[in-house]
Amino acid sequence: MQKDNDPLAPAALEQRDKEEQQRMFSPSAARNSAPILDVIKHVLPKRGLALEIGCGTGEHVVSFGESMPNLMWQPSDPDLGSRASTASWIKFKGLNNVMAPLDIDVCSKNWGVEPLAPFDAIVSINMVHVAPWAATLGLFAGAGRLLRDGAILYLYGPFMHHGVHNASSNAAFDEALKASNPSWGLRDISDLERVAGESGLRLTQIIEMPANNKSLVFSYASRLA
Ligand SMILES: C[S@@+](CC[C@H](N)C(=O)[O-])C[C@H]1O[C@@H](n2cnc3c(N)ncnc32)[C@H](O)[C@@H]1O
Repeated sequence: MQKDNDPLAPAALEQRDKEEQQRMFSPSAARNSAPILDVIKHVLPKRGLALEIGCGTGEHVVSFGESMPNLMWQPSDPDLGSRASTASWIKFKGLNNVMAPLDIDVCSKNWGVEPLAPFDAIVSINMVHVAPWAATLGLFAGAGRLLRDGAILYLYGPFMHHGVHNASSNAAFDEALKASNPSWGLRDISDLERVAGESGLRLTQIIEMPANNKSLVFSYASRLA
């Protein structure tokens, strides 16, 4: 007779298949995970609590969790399918330093993670250009509320600077984003610096990344807020 916890019991096999189907794969996450990891290993603290905004498939957070075992990760995404994928990746990798994904929309006033604050880092990859400008404002406002002094907000993606695209492919991408949703589009680093300043964040590093992307590192100081 099969026991309830028998991994070969029909219910267990069905559950395993369901979780496998929930695990999504992103070709861009497969390409950029290693270069991003190389940067965040240097700019994020080795220990503490990091919040990921817009975790998507969850492939980034499990790769970060595996490589930075002493840093605790809290992934989040407002999309249900993304949270299911992330939860499935966490279970598949057997990570105990990556918590279950939460439903956070940065446009909301309260993110629901206030009891966990202050965070030592907030990370958001390829989010601000695929969301309305209000999401950028919400992200920086939330970082100003929830980061500890000296903590980091890390952004990755394609960005403009002083109104100029750094590659024709990014200009074309910007046009395509705006065609699919007029409130989306590449953000300008100069605008981000201004918005950051209003929440006590200062841009400390711009790091060139493969495929004309950038890493932006902001540092929080309460005296600037
Ligand atoms: C292009 S995907 C990037 C996903 C993942 N970070 C990656 O690089 O593969 C953008 C993500 O941002 C999330 N997102 C969009 N609007 C958001 C908002 N207002 N607050 C938080 N996340 C948001 C989406 O649900 C989506 O998962």
